[in-house]
Amino acid sequence: MARRPTFSRVDGGRDDQASTSTTYGLTPGAAITWSRSDTAGGIYGTLLGMVMSDQAPENQIRLKVAPALGDAELNELFGASWPDHRPASFSGMLARSLCWVAAYREGALVGFVNVATDGGIHAFILDTTVHPRVRRQGVGVRLVQRAAQEARSRGARWLHVDYEPHLEEFYARCGFRPTAAGLMRL
Ligand SMILES: CC(C)(COP(=O)(O)OP(=O)(O)OC[C@H]1O[C@@H](n2cnc3c(N)ncnc32)[C@H](O)[C@@H]1OP(=O)(O)O)[C@@H](O)C(=O)NCCC(=O)NCCS
Repeated sequence: MARRPTFSRVDGGRDDQASTSTTYGLTPGAAITWSRSDTAGGIYGTLLGMVMSDQAPENQIRLKVAPALGDAELNELFGASWPDHRPASFSGMLARSLCWVAAYREGALVGFVNVATDGGIHAFILDTTVHPRVRRQGVGVRLVQRAAQEARSRGARWLHVDYEPHLEEFYARCGFRPTAAGLMRL
Protein backbone atom coordinates (compact mmCIF):
# COMPACT_ATOMS: atom_id res chain seq x y z
CA MET A 1 0.00 0.00 0.00
CA ALA A 2 1.41 3.39 -0.99
CA ARG A 3 1.98 5.48 2.10
CA ARG A 4 3.56 8.73 1.08
CA PRO A 5 1.52 11.35 2.90
CA THR A 6 0.52 14.59 1.31
CA PHE A 7 0.10 17.44 3.75
CA SER A 8 -2.19 20.41 3.89
CA ARG A 9 -2.87 22.61 6.84
CA VAL A 10 -5.56 25.06 7.85
CA ASP A 11 -5.20 27.23 10.94
CA GLY A 12 -7.96 29.28 12.43
CA GLY A 13 -9.92 30.06 15.57
CA ARG A 14 -10.26 32.78 18.14
CA ASP A 15 -7.44 33.81 20.46
CA ASP A 16 -9.00 31.94 23.37
CA GLN A 17 -9.73 28.82 21.37
CA ALA A 18 -7.02 28.13 18.84
CA SER A 19 -7.76 25.31 16.48
CA THR A 20 -5.69 23.51 13.91
CA SER A 21 -6.79 21.06 11.29
CA THR A 22 -4.42 18.99 9.24
CA THR A 23 -5.14 16.47 6.53
CA TYR A 24 -2.81 13.73 5.43
CA GLY A 25 -3.67 11.83 2.26
CA LEU A 26 -2.37 8.28 2.54
CA THR A 27 -3.82 6.43 -0.38
CA PRO A 28 -6.38 7.45 -2.97
CA GLY A 29 -9.64 7.65 -1.04
CA ALA A 30 -7.94 7.46 2.33
CA ALA A 31 -6.95 10.36 4.54
CA ILE A 32 -5.70 10.96 8.04
CA THR A 33 -7.10 14.09 9.59
CA TRP A 34 -6.44 15.51 12.97
CA SER A 35 -7.94 18.41 14.76
CA ARG A 36 -6.69 20.12 17.84
CA SER A 37 -8.33 22.37 20.36
CA ASP A 38 -6.35 23.98 23.18
CA THR A 39 -8.86 25.46 25.57
CA ALA A 40 -8.03 24.12 29.04
CA GLY A 41 -5.18 25.08 31.35
CA GLY A 42 -2.89 22.99 33.53
CA ILE A 43 -0.36 20.34 32.62
CA TYR A 44 -2.98 17.59 32.30
CA GLY A 45 -5.83 19.92 31.57
CA THR A 46 -4.93 20.59 27.97
CA LEU A 47 -7.47 19.07 25.68
CA LEU A 48 -5.78 17.63 22.64
CA GLY A 49 -7.51 15.38 20.17
CA MET A 50 -6.28 13.78 17.02
CA VAL A 51 -8.40 11.86 14.59
CA MET A 52 -6.95 9.58 11.98
CA SER A 53 -9.59 8.66 9.46
CA ASP A 54 -9.79 6.59 6.33
CA GLN A 55 -13.45 7.54 6.17
CA ALA A 56 -14.86 4.24 7.53
CA PRO A 57 -15.81 5.01 11.17
CA GLU A 58 -14.53 1.65 12.42
CA ASN A 59 -11.09 2.58 11.10
CA GLN A 60 -10.86 5.98 12.75
CA ILE A 61 -8.06 6.25 15.25
CA ARG A 62 -8.14 9.03 17.84
CA LEU A 63 -5.04 10.05 19.78
CA LYS A 64 -5.36 11.62 23.22
CA VAL A 65 -2.65 13.12 25.41
CA ALA A 66 -2.67 12.05 29.05
CA PRO A 67 -6.23 10.71 29.23
CA ALA A 68 -7.38 8.88 32.34
CA LEU A 69 -6.47 5.22 31.84
CA GLY A 70 -7.63 2.27 33.90
CA ASP A 71 -5.62 -0.84 34.72
CA ALA A 72 -8.17 -3.08 32.96
CA GLU A 73 -7.80 -1.42 29.55
CA LEU A 74 -4.01 -1.14 29.80
CA ASN A 75 -3.69 -4.77 30.89
CA GLU A 76 -5.92 -5.84 28.00
CA LEU A 77 -3.81 -3.89 25.48
CA PHE A 78 -0.50 -5.07 26.96
CA GLY A 79 -1.73 -8.66 27.23
CA ALA A 80 -2.59 -8.70 23.52
CA SER A 81 0.69 -7.02 22.59
CA TRP A 82 3.44 -8.29 24.88
CA PRO A 83 3.83 -12.10 25.16
CA ASP A 84 5.21 -12.02 28.73
CA HIS A 85 2.83 -9.43 30.13
CA ARG A 86 1.45 -10.04 33.62
CA PRO A 87 -1.45 -7.94 34.94
CA ALA A 88 -0.10 -4.86 36.66
CA SER A 89 -1.18 -1.62 38.27
CA PHE A 90 -0.20 1.45 36.26
CA SER A 91 -1.36 4.34 38.41
CA GLY A 92 2.01 4.87 40.15
CA MET A 93 3.86 4.83 36.86
CA LEU A 94 1.50 7.30 35.21
CA ALA A 95 1.64 9.60 38.22
CA ARG A 96 5.42 9.96 37.72
CA SER A 97 5.29 10.32 33.94
CA LEU A 98 5.92 13.51 32.05
CA CYS A 99 3.01 12.54 29.79
CA TRP A 100 1.57 9.66 27.82
CA VAL A 101 -0.39 9.31 24.61
CA ALA A 102 -3.20 6.83 23.98
CA ALA A 103 -4.83 5.70 20.73
CA TYR A 104 -8.48 4.67 20.55
CA ARG A 105 -10.57 2.97 17.93
CA GLU A 106 -14.32 3.01 18.51
CA GLY A 107 -13.66 3.96 22.13
CA ALA A 108 -11.33 1.02 22.78
CA LEU A 109 -7.68 1.52 23.72
CA VAL A 110 -5.51 0.28 20.83
CA GLY A 111 -2.26 2.12 21.43
CA PHE A 112 -0.16 3.62 24.21
CA VAL A 113 3.21 5.25 24.75
CA ASN A 114 4.61 6.55 28.00
CA VAL A 115 7.13 9.38 28.46
CA ALA A 116 9.23 9.23 31.61
CA THR A 117 11.29 12.19 32.77
CA ASP A 118 14.36 13.07 34.82
CA GLY A 119 12.56 16.24 35.85
CA GLY A 120 14.83 18.28 33.60
CA ILE A 121 15.56 18.27 29.90
CA HIS A 122 15.70 14.49 29.42
CA ALA A 123 12.65 12.37 28.62
CA PHE A 124 12.40 8.68 27.84
CA ILE A 125 10.00 6.82 25.56
CA LEU A 126 8.73 3.64 27.22
CA ASP A 127 6.20 0.91 26.50
CA THR A 128 5.35 1.86 22.93
CA THR A 129 2.45 -0.48 22.22
CA VAL A 130 -0.01 -0.88 19.35
CA HIS A 131 -2.67 -3.57 19.37
CA PRO A 132 -1.95 -6.31 16.80
CA ARG A 133 -5.27 -5.58 15.08
CA VAL A 134 -4.20 -2.07 14.06
CA ARG A 135 -0.48 -2.49 13.39
CA ARG A 136 1.34 -1.35 10.26
CA GLN A 137 -1.11 1.49 9.68
CA GLY A 138 1.08 4.26 11.03
CA VAL A 139 -0.46 4.37 14.50
CA GLY A 140 2.83 3.65 16.30
CA VAL A 141 4.74 6.41 14.51
CA ARG A 142 1.95 8.91 15.18
CA LEU A 143 1.82 7.95 18.87
CA VAL A 144 5.55 8.49 19.32
CA GLN A 145 5.64 11.69 17.27
CA ARG A 146 2.76 13.10 19.31
CA ALA A 147 4.53 12.08 22.51
CA ALA A 148 7.71 13.85 21.33
CA GLN A 149 5.77 17.01 20.55
CA GLU A 150 4.13 16.94 23.96
CA ALA A 151 7.41 16.22 25.77
CA ARG A 152 9.00 19.23 24.12
CA SER A 153 6.07 21.44 25.10
CA ARG A 154 6.55 20.25 28.70
CA GLY A 155 10.23 21.24 28.79
CA ALA A 156 12.15 18.19 27.56
CA ARG A 157 14.96 18.85 25.06
CA TRP A 158 16.35 15.33 24.58
CA LEU A 159 14.18 12.29 23.97
CA HIS A 160 15.71 8.85 24.50
CA VAL A 161 14.53 5.39 23.55
CA ASP A 162 16.01 1.92 23.46
CA TYR A 163 14.73 -0.86 21.26
CA GLU A 164 15.54 -4.18 19.66
CA PRO A 165 17.48 -4.04 16.37
CA HIS A 166 14.48 -4.94 14.20
CA LEU A 167 12.72 -1.73 15.33
CA GLU A 168 15.45 0.61 14.11
CA GLU A 169 13.42 1.55 11.02
CA PHE A 170 10.31 2.13 13.13
CA TYR A 171 12.09 4.57 15.46
CA ALA A 172 13.90 6.20 12.54
CA ARG A 173 10.49 6.95 11.06
CA CYS A 174 9.48 8.44 14.41
CA GLY A 175 12.42 10.85 14.12
CA PHE A 176 15.15 9.19 16.19
CA ARG A 177 18.72 8.83 15.01
CA PRO A 178 20.74 5.88 16.25
CA THR A 179 23.34 6.39 18.96
CA ALA A 180 25.44 4.14 21.15
CA ALA A 181 23.53 3.32 24.32
CA GLY A 182 23.74 0.85 27.17
CA LEU A 183 21.20 -1.28 28.98
CA MET A 184 21.57 -3.36 32.15
CA ARG A 185 19.06 -5.82 33.61
CA LEU A 186 18.77 -5.22 37.37
C1 LIG B 1 6.48 -1.69 17.44
C2 LIG B 1 5.01 -1.27 17.32
C3 LIG B 1 4.68 -0.24 18.40
C4 LIG B 1 4.81 -0.66 15.91
O1 LIG B 1 3.48 -0.13 15.83
P1 LIG B 1 2.80 0.07 14.39
O2 LIG B 1 1.60 0.91 14.59
O3 LIG B 1 2.59 -1.24 13.74
O4 LIG B 1 3.91 0.86 13.60
P2 LIG B 1 3.74 1.75 12.27
O5 LIG B 1 2.59 1.25 11.47
O6 LIG B 1 3.70 3.18 12.67
O7 LIG B 1 5.11 1.39 11.53
C5 LIG B 1 5.78 2.31 10.70
C6 LIG B 1 7.00 1.63 10.11
O8 LIG B 1 7.88 1.15 11.14
C7 LIG B 1 8.43 -0.12 10.73
N1 LIG B 1 7.94 -1.19 11.60
C8 LIG B 1 6.83 -1.18 12.37
N2 LIG B 1 6.72 -2.33 13.06
C9 LIG B 1 7.79 -3.08 12.72
C10 LIG B 1 8.24 -4.38 13.10
N3 LIG B 1 7.57 -5.14 14.00
N4 LIG B 1 9.38 -4.86 12.55
C11 LIG B 1 10.06 -4.12 11.67
N5 LIG B 1 9.69 -2.87 11.27
C12 LIG B 1 8.57 -2.35 11.79
C13 LIG B 1 7.99 -0.34 9.30
O9 LIG B 1 8.96 0.27 8.46
C14 LIG B 1 6.69 0.42 9.25
O10 LIG B 1 6.34 0.84 7.97
P3 LIG B 1 5.56 -0.15 6.95
O11 LIG B 1 4.34 -0.65 7.70
O12 LIG B 1 5.23 0.75 5.81
O13 LIG B 1 6.51 -1.26 6.60
C15 LIG B 1 4.06 -2.49 17.42
O14 LIG B 1 4.49 -3.47 16.49
C16 LIG B 1 4.03 -3.14 18.79
O15 LIG B 1 3.26 -2.73 19.65
N6 LIG B 1 4.87 -4.17 19.02
C17 LIG B 1 4.87 -4.92 20.30
C18 LIG B 1 5.46 -4.11 21.43
C19 LIG B 1 6.85 -3.58 21.12
O16 LIG B 1 7.76 -4.34 20.75
N7 LIG B 1 7.04 -2.27 21.29
C20 LIG B 1 8.29 -1.58 21.05
C21 LIG B 1 8.94 -1.23 22.36
S1 LIG B 1 10.58 -0.52 22.11
